[in-house]
Amino acid sequence: MTIWNLGSINADHVYAVPHIPTPGETLAATGLSRGLGGKGANMSVAAARAGARVAHLGAVGEDGGWMVERLEAYGVDCAHVQRRGGPSGHAIITVDAKGENAITLWPGANRDIEPEAVKQALQGAAPGDLFVTQNETALQPEAAAQARAKGLTVAYAAAPFDAEAVRAVRPHLDLLVLNEIEARQLEQALNSSIESLGIAHVVVTLGARGCDWIEAGSGTRHHVDAPRVEAVDTTGAGDTFTGYLLAGLSQGLAMEAALNRATRAAALKVGRPGAADAIPTAEEVERAVF
Ligand code: RIB
Ligand code: NA
Repeated sequence: MTIWNLGSINADHVYAVPHIPTPGETLAATGLSRGLGGKGANMSVAAARAGARVAHLGAVGEDGGWMVERLEAYGVDCAHVQRRGGPSGHAIITVDAKGENAITLWPGANRDIEPEAVKQALQGAAPGDLFVTQNETALQPEAAAQARAKGLTVAYAAAPFDAEAVRAVRPHLDLLVLNEIEARQLEQALNSSIESLGIAHVVVTLGARGCDWIEAGSGTRHHVDAPRVEAVDTTGAGDTFTGYLLAGLSQGLAMEAALNRATRAAALKVGRPGAADAIPTAEEVERAVF
């Protein structure tokens, strides 16, 4: 079973700062590093580190060869990663002493993905495969509809949040992942409760408090606790969670077991600096003592 991920690939430029700069402030960073990121790439790496088979659908620019190489080194199939002209996506990330971040994104090649190539790639998917996407590329509704029609299970992480984007993909979704602030925003925008969105599974992440899983069929809300960790860098924790969740489902884990492993993986990531390169392996998650 393959996870098909239509998602962003970014070069993350990470600045360690004493606090997130305020408007008008000039602030010297105490550290700088560059790494692989992008909500899409992070999810692909997480799913691959969890041991799942992942095919990434996306695009990098002229400067993105190293990112494709790194994704491949993590075991992500990049046969359908397009090479476009111009710059790759990148992110300017400031991380404060408490591990909180602020991110400025330049979409670059992520907004330049060739629709026909995505369509063709998805023709190679098999019923029973999984499809996942987020909100840092174009084509989510089209690709989700195609995947659904092919008999794939379709998941969407509503990040970065945009109520209109969720509205557009909603009819094609089996699984929606979002955080609690986004859940409230979505309920307001759609004037409907999370329970009555008509999506079979909704997972609301609660940061250090773990997550809730809502089953539409029965309207049941299950809670999964997260282990306690010292936050170093929360960047990509949500992506790690979603990638691990999908991996678990593709590996035949029950929802509760997949959620449990995903919260542990995200907690481990929070204890490490960086995005994709900080995502733990399944073995590390297994061995971790919190
Ligand atoms: O979710 C974290 C990611 O958001 C970073 O890796 C950055 O590239 C942005 O896409
Ligand atoms: Na995140």
